Amino acid sequence: MSKAFGFKEFGGPESQGFLDRPTPVPGPGQLLVAVRAAGVNPIDWKIRQGFMGTELPLPAVYGVEVAGVVQGVGRGVEGFAVGDEVFGSALAGGYAEHTLLAADHAARKPAGVSFVQAAVLPVAAATAYDGVLQLALEPGQTLLILGIAGGLGTAAAQIARGSGLTVLGTASDANRGFVESLGATQVRYGEGVAERIRAVAPGGVDGILDLIGGADARAAAEALATPGRLVSVVDPVTATDLDGAFVRRSGTAATLDALAALVAAGGLDPHITATYPLEQAAEALAVVEAGHARGKLVLEIG
Ligand SMILES: NC(=O)c1ccc[n+]([C@@H]2O[C@H](COP(=O)([O-])OP(=O)(O)OC[C@H]3O[C@@H](n4cnc5c(N)ncnc54)[C@H](OP(=O)(O)O)[C@@H]3O)[C@@H](O)[C@H]2O)c1
Repeated sequence: MSKAFGFKEFGGPESQGFLDRPTPVPGPGQLLVAVRAAGVNPIDWKIRQGFMGTELPLPAVYGVEVAGVVQGVGRGVEGFAVGDEVFGSALAGGYAEHTLLAADHAARKPAGVSFVQAAVLPVAAATAYDGVLQLALEPGQTLLILGIAGGLGTAAAQIARGSGLTVLGTASDANRGFVESLGATQVRYGEGVAERIRAVAPGGVDGILDLIGGADARAAAEALATPGRLVSVVDPVTATDLDGAFVRRSGTAATLDALAALVAAGGLDPHITATYPLEQAAEALAVVEAGHARGKLVLEIG
C-alpha cells in the first residue's frame, strides 16, 4: 500500500484526507516513481472544486508535478531505468508516496538540481516558459506579468529577464521588495492599474503575460502598446476578447530539460518559500488556496 493525500468529493476541503491505496502499477510507456517532492499548485484545489470538470474518478489524489526516483518501468519504455532520478507531470496524483509519470514527458533530474527544485518545473515554470516564448518579444522590449509574485510569475520574471526583457509585474505592495529582487518593477494591482503601468512605462508595455484574468486583465490591457499582445494562462475568454491568446503548453521533455539546465546554471531560482512534509499537505494547500503565496510551496516526501 502507498500513502496519498486527496479528496473524496468535489467541493471544499471538508472531504480531503489521507488515503491508503495500492501502489500504482506502471502501464505501457509509464514510470512508477517514489515521490521525493511534489509542487503545490492552484490547479490542485481547482480540480477539487470541480472547476476543471467532474469526470475525474473519486477519490482522487492531489498534485500534478513531482520529482522522485524510478521504481518500475512499464512496457515499451526506453531510456529510463530503476533508480533514475526524474521529474515530470504526475498521472496518478503527486501528494503521494508513489505516482506514475509518462516516460515520454518525463526528464532526468540533473545532479545539481534538488528534488524540491525539480518538482516545481513541470507546471509553474514550464507554463511560464511556454507563455514567455509564445509572446515572442525582442530583447529590450517590456513585458508586464499580472500576478508576478506567485509560483508562475516568479519563474516568468526570471525567464523574461534572462531573455533581455524589461519586466514589470503586478503584486501587492507587500511584495515590492520581492519583485525587485527578481529584477522587475512592482506595480500595485487594483483600480487605476493602467495609469500606474504607464507611469513606469510611458509608451505602454509590449506584451502581457496574464496569470490573473478577468477585470484585472482588461484593465491592464489598456496599457498595451500593441493591442492583443497578451497571453493568458487562466482566462481564455478574456484573452480572446482582448485579441490575445491562451497559452499553448508544449509539455515536452525538452522543455523540462531546458528548465533544469537553467536551474543548474543559476539562471532560474524556483524560489521555494516553504516546504512541508506530506502529513502537512492540507496546510500547504490552504496557503496556496488563499491566493497570496509567494514563490512556490513544495511537499517533501519520504
Ligand atoms: N494554463 C496552465 O497550464 C496553468 C499552469 C499553471 C498555473 N496556471 C494558473 O496560473 C495562475 C497563477 O498560478 P501560480 O502558481 O503563480 O499561483 P500562485 O502562486 O498561487 O499565485 C499567488 C500570487 O498571486 C498574487 N495575486 C493574487 N491576486 C492578485 C491580483 N489581483 N493581481 C496580481 N497578483 C495577484 C499574489 O500576490 P499578492 O500576495 O501580492 O497579492 C500571490 O503572490 C493560477 O490561476 C493557476 O491555476 C495555469
